[in-house]
Amino acid sequence: MRAMIFDRYGEPAVMRLGKAPVPEPQDGEVLIRVGYAGVNPADSKLRAGLSTLDVAFPFVPGMDAAGVVERTGANVTQFRRGDRVITWGLPHGKVWGTYAEFVCGSVRNISPVPMSLNFAQVAAVPIAALTAFQALFHAEKGGMIPGQKVLINGASGGVGSFAVQFAKSGGLLVAATCGTANVDYDRSLGADHVIDYKTKDVLRAVRDWSAEGVDVALDTVGPATLPEVLDMLRPGGRLVNILTVTADGDVECDRKEAERRGFRKIVTNINFERARESMREITHLIDSGLVHVPPIDLVPLEDAARAHEMIETGHVRGKLVLKVAELSLSR
Ligand SMILES: NC(=O)c1ccc[n+]([C@@H]2O[C@H](COP(=O)([O-])OP(=O)(O)OC[C@H]3O[C@@H](n4cnc5c(N)ncnc54)[C@H](OP(=O)(O)O)[C@@H]3O)[C@@H](O)[C@H]2O)c1
Repeated sequence: MRAMIFDRYGEPAVMRLGKAPVPEPQDGEVLIRVGYAGVNPADSKLRAGLSTLDVAFPFVPGMDAAGVVERTGANVTQFRRGDRVITWGLPHGKVWGTYAEFVCGSVRNISPVPMSLNFAQVAAVPIAALTAFQALFHAEKGGMIPGQKVLINGASGGVGSFAVQFAKSGGLLVAATCGTANVDYDRSLGADHVIDYKTKDVLRAVRDWSAEGVDVALDTVGPATLPEVLDMLRPGGRLVNILTVTADGDVECDRKEAERRGFRKIVTNINFERARESMREITHLIDSGLVHVPPIDLVPLEDAARAHEMIETGHVRGKLVLKVAELSLSR
């Protein structure tokens, strides 16, 4: 099969379009013909050798995709050939990855596609939406309830674009930070108060909006970009940091400082054990029109290196998606 492969860590150009064996679905797995693959910052960090994940070379990157079930392994009853699905997962072993014509996914990490989307949009959903949804609503993370106030730092990328919309759909009041070029965009997502971090004092802007502070600050970028975040929280508030691996600062030191001041600091990853359950709720929100997939930049598979250069700027609006093959959602 055609696949983007790399044999060593390095710059985007280490990826090459090559041939890899079609993976064989094992017990409880499904072989998926990939139409579109999401591009996530984790892909480029892994390629650069900055990830903590243990992979073997040659390696195929990519953590999420939209495609069609080609074949099922033993003991798979939920899916059959021809089903339109999304898949997500952590890279593991050799040649696991969605930048390829085929990928094998465990049934735990596969879900029917939201019916209201086209195939490219579907591939933009899994990693970004799961991260945002769980960070806001899972009790051990943001645990937010209607009427509460949330600050979303980094509200125009993949995770942030979903986070603003999920928060609004959950009845929250939302302040969102972004660069000047994305102020109108974040308003269009529904944010109640948009703060241009390039021209505004973010602490003052948050306090002007909510004098008592916010219930939760959800940070998708990293603590260095929000040094006064604890002063933005109301008493007993929570700081939820999406684990970036590359910009997390001194997690233990920051956690202790938050606790000393009576706050909780939570550093969070996707909880894959609960991902199918979360994806059901996300699919419902999308299909009921409450949440829209952010704008997509579509890049051909063979230009994956260019997509990585784009994601490494840290300023992509919405999502980047690789087109792997021409697949249509109509049967
Ligand atoms: N641990 C996990 O399970 C998990 C899962 C998903 C993602 N992540 C991590 O979460 C981070 C975000 O992911 P993503 O997919 O949303 O990335 P992304 O699509 O590249 O978005 C990055 C966003 O950050 C914003 N930004 C950059 N500098 C900023 C600043 N100083 N203040 C406020 N916003 C700023 C940019 O907006 P402007 O252009 O407007 O500045 C951009 O839209 C990445 O580090 C990723 O690796 C972790």
